[in-house]
This record gives sequence, C-alpha cells and structure tokens, in this order.
Amino acid sequence: MGIKQSKHNITATIVNSSKDRPDVLLKGERRKKFRSFRSSGLLDSSILENWRFSHGDKRIHNLKNAKLLSPVVDEEVERLQRQHRLFKRIWQSNFSSPVEEKLKSGGARILDVGCGPGTWTIEMAESFPKSTFTGVDFAPIFPQEKRPVNAKFLQANILDGLPFLDDTFDLVHMRLLVTAFTAKEWEEKVIPELVRVTRQGGWVEFMESDIQYLNEGPTTQRLSNALMTFMKGKGILQPIDSYIPSSMESCEKFEKEIKVEQKTCFVGKWAGELGQLAIDDITKGWAAVKSPMSSMMGVKASEYDDSVQTFAKEVEQYKTSFKTWRFFGQKISTTSSSAITTPSSWDQSEQSQ
Ligand SMILES: C[S@@+](CC[C@H](N)C(=O)[O-])C[C@H]1O[C@@H](n2cnc3c(N)ncnc32)[C@H](O)[C@@H]1O
Repeated sequence: MGIKQSKHNITATIVNSSKDRPDVLLKGERRKKFRSFRSSGLLDSSILENWRFSHGDKRIHNLKNAKLLSPVVDEEVERLQRQHRLFKRIWQSNFSSPVEEKLKSGGARILDVGCGPGTWTIEMAESFPKSTFTGVDFAPIFPQEKRPVNAKFLQANILDGLPFLDDTFDLVHMRLLVTAFTAKEWEEKVIPELVRVTRQGGWVEFMESDIQYLNEGPTTQRLSNALMTFMKGKGILQPIDSYIPSSMESCEKFEKEIKVEQKTCFVGKWAGELGQLAIDDITKGWAAVKSPMSSMMGVKASEYDDSVQTFAKEVEQYKTSFKTWRFFGQKISTTSSSAITTPSSWDQSEQSQ
C-alpha cells in the first residue's frame, strides 16, 4: 500500500496486488441472485411507462434528457449492482465522511443523488437502521416496494432542483455521475444544489473513477480516447481529481479543507481476484456502450467487440490500473445549531412542497 500527500491532502492507497487474496465475490449465490434479478420484481411494474421496448424485451430509457451512454435498463441495473460490489471491495467502506457515529446513534438523514438501482442506499439503510435514507434518480430504476423501512426513493432530476428543503441532510452522497454533467453544470447547479440540501455542519461526498487508465496498451488507449473525445464534446471535463475538488472549493459553502482520498485498482487476472472483478466489470461496461462507442470510433460492432477482447488481453500485458476517488467537504455553519429548524417527521421534512 502506498500513501502520498498532495495539494488536496490526498490519501492514496493501492488496493490490490497479485499478493491479495480477497474473499469470494460475485460467485455462486451472488451470480444466481443477479441472474434472477429480472424476475425478482426489484423493478416495480408501475414505472414501466418510463421505458420503451426494443429487441423483444429489452427496456430502454424513455427519458428525453438522459445523457446515458448505456440505456438498456436491466443490463444497466445489473452492471451497477456489480460495480457497487467492486467499489465496496476497493474502498472497504461505503463512505469516508466522518458521520459514522451519527448514523449509528440514529436520527441522521442521508441523501443519495443519482442513486441508480439504490444498491448503496439500501445497503446503508440496512447497516444503519436508526437513520433514514433517501435515494433520488431521474431514471426510476430504483425499487419501489422491496426496500428497508428506513429507505425511500424519488424520481428527480438534480438539474431541475431537488425537492427538499434547505439544510435537511447530514450526508449527501453522489457516486459515478461524472459523465452526467458538464463542468459548468457541476459548478453552477450540481454542487450548489447538493450543498443547499445539506444541513449546516453536514457533509457532501462524491465518489468517482478516472476514465483514463494508467499503463494503457494501444487498444486500451483507443477506447479511452474515444470516450474522452465523447465527453469533451459534451462539455464534460477530465481529470476529475482537479475539477470536482476545485468546484467544491470555489462554492464557498464548504469549510476550507476539501478532503481527497484516492485508491488505485489494478485491472486483470495478474492482480488477483479483485483485478479479475475489475476486468469483468470493465469489459461488461465497454460492452454496454457498444453502440455509441463503435460509432464514435468509426468501427463496425464486430471490430469494437474485438477491441474489447484485446483490451482484456492488454491489461495483463501492460499491468493496467485506474484510480478511484472520494471527495468530501463539510458545509459551513452560519448559525448556531440550536437555531437550525429540524423538521420533526421524516416524511414531512424532506419534500419542500
Ligand atoms: C453510473 S450511474 C450510478 C448509480 C449509483 N450512484 C451507483 O453508484 O450505483 C449514474 C446514475 O445517475 C443518474 N443520473 C444521471 N443524471 C441525473 C440527473 N440529472 N439527476 C438525477 N439522476 C441522474 C442516472 O440515471 C444513473 O442512474
């Protein structure tokens, strides 16, 4: 494990190496669970009007403003659930902000924005049963019925504003939305809106992964360059490790020090079981975006499939890795805590209308 410090006091850790022997994940029972997901009723039938169908039974997002590269609903949900487990293994935790005691003692309110299938939200709600959790996403791929009593989900687009009062949540979490917003949106809409709904003294935390790999082979480079070009065309900037913390710093609603933690994940069998999980996740991720990526690269779908297979070989040869990040900051307190109005009921408190 390597630790280093930089401008943002980064705590950096390498999380897997060929020496690692992490315990079993995504084998046996869990694989079966994912396969049975489609028939599990996890997706509520009442939200079907949000989808249209393609290739027989594939549900596609019907949301006009969705900037999603991967619109096929069930595959995307499974991919995000798998990815949650990968990141949980990498970080060995679900968050870094210093709120654990508050979550345990109870009464804390947590918001997960862009919650996707709600995997993080549900796991957190189960871990901290005395606190309450709300997940929001503009694509309602979250469960409506099968959820812990202290978790609920709402459909909302953060760019239109969140349906919550100011100063509501103790922790506001957002994971893997770097490709969803332009740099301007991050700075002018996303961060201010997340901070608005965070209570004074509460925390805002982001978790993201770099798109550019370290030690890329030539095909890996072509794939990630195509993705970067796509993102640049949409006004989405890289690298995230500078622009998210800088946007947080320029918001002026945070305490001075924005905390940055980084972990490096090696990709491929050469890096043990976690490396294998990472390559499985990434190749499925590349497959999920085949259509936009192959047109961006100007290649046929079959050539794109070949590139993904070459990518899987290259990571072994080049010992490829990627960095993942957590950025978190505390909202400043401008009034004494006794002067902050705390709504009395969970249900009444959060919706501003
Ligand atoms: C890559 S997924 C990550 C999901 C989840 N945070 C996780 O880590 O598993 C990004 C999610 O952000 C949602 N999203 C994108 N833009 C959004 C917006 N403007 N408002 C709310 N949700 C958004 C997408 O629908 C998608 O579910």
